[in-house]
Amino acid sequence: MTIFRTDIEFAREMDARDPLAAYRQRFHIPKSNDGEECVYLCGNSLGLQPKAVEAAVRQELEDWKTLAVEGHLHAKTPWLPYHEFLTDQLARLVGALPIEVVAMNSLTVNLHLMMVSFYRPTPQRRKIAIEASAFPSDRYAVDSQIRFHGFDPADSLVELRPRDGEAALRTEDIERLIEREGKSIALILIGGVNYYTGQFFDLERIARAGHAQGCIVGFDLAHAAGNVPLQLHDWDADFACWCSYKYLNSGPGSVAGCFVHERHASAFDLPRFCGWWGHDKATRFKMGHDFQPIAGAEGWQISNPPILSLAAVKASLDLFDEVGMERLREKSLLQTGYLEFLLDGLATDAFTILTPRDPRQRGCQLSLAMKVRGRETFDSLAASGIVCDWREPDCIRIAPVPFYNSFSDVHECVEAIAAQLGQRPRHSKAP
Ligand SMILES: Cc1ncc(COP(=O)(O)O)c(C=O)c1O
Repeated sequence: MTIFRTDIEFAREMDARDPLAAYRQRFHIPKSNDGEECVYLCGNSLGLQPKAVEAAVRQELEDWKTLAVEGHLHAKTPWLPYHEFLTDQLARLVGALPIEVVAMNSLTVNLHLMMVSFYRPTPQRRKIAIEASAFPSDRYAVDSQIRFHGFDPADSLVELRPRDGEAALRTEDIERLIEREGKSIALILIGGVNYYTGQFFDLERIARAGHAQGCIVGFDLAHAAGNVPLQLHDWDADFACWCSYKYLNSGPGSVAGCFVHERHASAFDLPRFCGWWGHDKATRFKMGHDFQPIAGAEGWQISNPPILSLAAVKASLDLFDEVGMERLREKSLLQTGYLEFLLDGLATDAFTILTPRDPRQRGCQLSLAMKVRGRETFDSLAASGIVCDWREPDCIRIAPVPFYNSFSDVHECVEAIAAQLGQRPRHSKAP
């Protein structure tokens, strides 16, 4: 067990011992106004650019420039099967079989496509269960799906709420609700890591509880993919969707990911919105009228994908493959534990930490509920080149990302919070 200390020398010692420290050099770190590198703790919103992305995208531009349409077959990485070059990497990242994953579209679009197939309400079983604090886009998507089927969210949406006075949901409370209301729930859609509190849910237990009641179980992994280890196949999710611009460092609005469990691979009778890229590859260019879906997640594709964006995703996934989620998680646990230790050491009750204290129930993000001077504190961090983010009404989210953040970054951030709140860190203590 690492015994943390509050002094800056400790952070430097940790950086010197960090086996992943060199990976920071593989990313572009933005500079603040004074020309110094920012302390970037905002990978929960937009991950930094891997340096390899530029060459990867340039290669596609070059192939387009010199090969034009021939690039579909003769580009360095041919465009026609381009998404297939990402399949194994995506499968490793989320703990899936290759047939279960595909890179396509963006996150909310994929959630809709999944609901078209997997939300099949009947008057008796029409409800969707989501976290009360689900990301607004998920809420809009779910509401609109319920209405699309002629039902009313007022009596078809079940919200999972924490107990009074608590920020996190207890797994046993989720299980109890599913047991109580499960027979009327068609779909449980839950974030792997909640965007606001940073809580990492016990997805396996939730899937088991949902399936025991005959519900479909889907996950929004926007804040989980690339942040925490996932075993989607073994955990038995029916489907999952994630974006690639947060912890997957693939650039703003870049191509998202989608998982469909193997048991649905050949469920061709499910309703789905179709397009030619989901059509059987052997006959796609015969240009026939009858849609024959590819077995597996690929069969949910609609359009041919944006190659420039996929090139960025591929370059980023190469890095994940090089390091592996286990090593990233190992550093992440240490780094976020260190952030928590430093914050706990501040002699102030200006904030509370919303994120669960149990490291198994969180990723790298800690969310601070600011009781006083929240916005001022956030603005002062930004002014001193420390990039976190602010979520209404009172939350500062801080996410040390093991790929590119140092322990010194974490120390500097907490020092700045302490200074803004007029506090000095207390003496060291064991975590
Ligand atoms: C949990 C969650 N769901 C959905 C979205 C929306 O993503 P997109 O705009 O890529 O559809 C976000 C975006 O940050 C998110 O954090």
